[in-house]
Formats: sequence, structure tokens, C-alpha cells
Amino acid sequence: MAYKNLIVKNLSDRLQLITINRPKQLNALNREVIGELHRALNAAESDTNIRAVILMGSGEKAFVAGADIKEFMHFTPEEGKKLSEEGQRLLFSYVEKMHTPVIAAINGYALGGGLELALASHIRIASENAKMGLPEVSLGVIPGYGGTQRLARHIGKGRAMEMILTAKMIDARKAYEYGLVSDVVPLEKLLDSAVETAEAIMKNAPVAVGLAIEAVNAAYDDSGLQKESDLFGQAFASEDFREGTAAFVERRKANFTGK
Ligand code: CAA
Repeated sequence: MAYKNLIVKNLSDRLQLITINRPKQLNALNREVIGELHRALNAAESDTNIRAVILMGSGEKAFVAGADIKEFMHFTPEEGKKLSEEGQRLLFSYVEKMHTPVIAAINGYALGGGLELALASHIRIASENAKMGLPEVSLGVIPGYGGTQRLARHIGKGRAMEMILTAKMIDARKAYEYGLVSDVVPLEKLLDSAVETAEAIMKNAPVAVGLAIEAVNAAYDDSGLQKESDLFGQAFASEDFREGTAAFVERRKANFTGK
């Protein structure tokens, strides 16, 4: 299958590496990338030979720097809500529910939708230079790809609230302390480390691995995701959303008025 924004490579008969390849935009997720990721992950899930998938970003700077701000900055509230709902369906909730385990190898910035993709993955390993955060409120919007729900599950409500409301990034060490990532390794060892974890999983019974993922997920209630999409769309009606996204593109500080 041909992809414009992905490099899909089999590292062995059973292990696939999917690299998001938009390095000039720090691998930001526009709708085309999300659609391609859905196709690639669906192909991996349907292929009984593939027993694990590693997700990474191309280049040394970013895993994924978020949803593509330039794509959604002029959207209406309805379009914003739809962006969130479709992204959840095609990628974030889709990854979480896959029976083929997905490991996020976080090789740099994992911000907004990038951290949300890592949070939806089954396992996260970070390189020492990785930085993670949900900076959406600094743009006048909220996390819309599951971050308000999944971050709290991983690190607890208090820390999640602090990360989301301050919009601050944390480094890989802090992410490890918080239990957000399972391991932190030098960048040059990141892929090897993800492969090692995948190999440990692939020694086990594939059907049981898939059922275990489903059973672990069963503990969590997904009803908050629709509320998140509704509120994500609502934020698009604010003047602060226009100001925050314009300030990002114009590389200046936003002047929020609370309207
Ligand atoms: N969307 C679109 N373009 C992005 C982007 C994004 N999320 N992140 C980076 N880029 C683009 C930049 O605009 C820039 O493009 P140009 O060269 O054409 O100007 C290019 O990638 C390189 O980025 P920078 O020059 O900004 O690189 P830097 O090293 O100075 O800064 C950074 C790196 C701190 C990650 C900074 O790029 C940044 O803050 N990015 C945005 C992070 C963010 O706010 N993410 C959340 C997005 S909203 C979201 O994800 C919503 C949701 O939940 C659904």
C-alpha cells in the first residue's frame, strides 16, 4: 500500500514499524495523516502474521507535535467537533482497541495529538530528549483526541489537571516518574528498546495478548470522549481560539481576552 506521509517497514516477519513522515511540520497530524494511519493500522491488525507494531516519528526532533494547527485554525465549531470525533474513531480509539499491541517509541516532542496518540497506544517508551505535554489551552482549545480522558488514567487526575491547565511540557525523566512512559533510553537505543519489548510480547500467545488488551481496556469508561469532542467543538466558537491559533502561526504571544 502506498502512503504519502508514512513509512511502513517490516522489521521482521512479525514486527512492523510505522514512521510518521512529515518532519518539516514535526509530524503534525492532519486529516490525511490520520486517514493513512488508520489504513496502515487496519492492514496490520488484519494481517495475522503481524504480532506487534511500533509507532515513531521521522527525524530526531519530534514523535508528533500535535494535530495540525494550520489545518483547523479556520474551522467552525461543527467542523471542530467533527475533526475530534473522526480522529477518535479512525485513530485514537481505534489504536486503543486493537488486538495487535502498539508501542509508541517517543523520539522527541509528543505534544497535543502526539501525546494523545502515545496515550492511546498500549506501551510508551521515550528517548532522553523527549518532551511531552498537552498545550491546547495555550491555543484557546482543549485536547480533542482523548487527552482529557486518557492522561488522567495514566498519571492521575491531579497531575493530568496540572499538565492540561498549565499547558507546560514535561521531560522524559518526569514522564517516567509520573508513570507516563515505561522506560527512558538514549535516542540511538530507542528503536532497539521498543523492538526488545515487542519481542517479549511476541513470544506469548497472540490471541491471549489481544484478549488481555481488551480486558484491560474494559476497566475504563469511554463516555467522556464524546463530551470531550463536544467541548473541543465549543472552544472553536471563542475569540480566544482565533487569537491563540493566529498567535502560533505568527510566532507571537497570544493576547487572550476571555471571550
Ligand atoms: N501544527 C502545524 N504545524 C506545526 C505544528 C502543529 N501542531 N507543530 C509544529 N509545526 C510546524 C511549525 O509551524 C513550523 O512550520 P514552518 O517552518 O512552516 O513555520 C515547523 O513545524 C517547525 O516548528 P517550529 O519552527 O515551531 O519548531 P521549534 O523547534 O521552534 O518548536 C515546538 C517546536 C515547541 C514543538 C513548536 O513547533 C510547537 O509549539 N508546536 C505546536 C505544539 C502544539 O501546540 N500542539 C498541539 C496542537 S493542537 C492539538 O493537538 C489539538 C487536539 O488535541 C486535537
